[in-house]
Amino acid sequence: MEYVWLQDEFVKRENARISFEDRGYYFGDGIYEVVRVYNGSPFLLTEHFERFQRSADELDIPLPYPLPKIKDIVTELVIKNKLENGYVYVQMTRGLQEREHLYTRDLTAILTAFTKTVEIPFDKQQNGISLLALEDIRWLRCDIKTINLLGNIMAKRKAEDNHCDEALQHRDSTVTEGSSSNAFIVQNGTLYTHPANHYILNGITRQFVLQLARKIGIPAEEKAFTLDDLALADEMFMTGTTTEILPVVSVKGSVQATFKPGPVTRELQKLFRETASR
Ligand code: PDD
Repeated sequence: MEYVWLQDEFVKRENARISFEDRGYYFGDGIYEVVRVYNGSPFLLTEHFERFQRSADELDIPLPYPLPKIKDIVTELVIKNKLENGYVYVQMTRGLQEREHLYTRDLTAILTAFTKTVEIPFDKQQNGISLLALEDIRWLRCDIKTINLLGNIMAKRKAEDNHCDEALQHRDSTVTEGSSSNAFIVQNGTLYTHPANHYILNGITRQFVLQLARKIGIPAEEKAFTLDDLALADEMFMTGTTTEILPVVSVKGSVQATFKPGPVTRELQKLFRETASR
């Protein structure tokens, strides 16, 4: 039997009902987090919920309960559902209101959460993935982890339609990020990734990988790279909560490039696995 969190309680998944008047449903007016679970424990929970708080603040959505209670709900849901390896999805919408662009400030945010079993994609981690490079058509607050993900899902669909595993979005020639992952290149031993500004989501895995790199003396710069830079890069990889570090072996679309999973990617993957499975 599986439970979900709905508003103020754990309910059986099959009994969970969402209101018609939820602003998340009308406007995509809400935020979310996806937290990895390894061997029954949530990974980087604090970091995820710092970002959750930030997204809520940026969108002027008051949390329905203090942050520690939300973290407790996540931990309890993992236990209740006996989740070993997978993730917890936590979503918060602004609340219930008749459809009206202007939100009122008297709403109570609706918190929902579910768990899902997901294995680590060892095959892709070993063999790499393909990317479709395409124009980033999203809004200019990609730093907020909103549930409004139309640009991202359009990009993901196009990638799949072109037999690619993930999208690689770019604004003019500057590479921003994937549809649900951050992009890194390695050039002459230095790691480059887009700075954490309003053009990208500041991935928790991205931040963790930057920390790991600095810890083992790999120079890492939060500096944007262009499509042209891909031709000069020695390695490329993508990061995300469910996938960890995936080497890129080919890029097509706006630019063509091929790579082999290289030593820097392999070292970071190894270190990531060691840390996560501890
Ligand atoms: N997506 N960029 C975007 C646009 C994302 O949606 C995600 C994560 C990332 C990577 O962030 P993190 O390392 O914190 O997972 C980057 C999640 C996993 C999702 O939507 O399912």
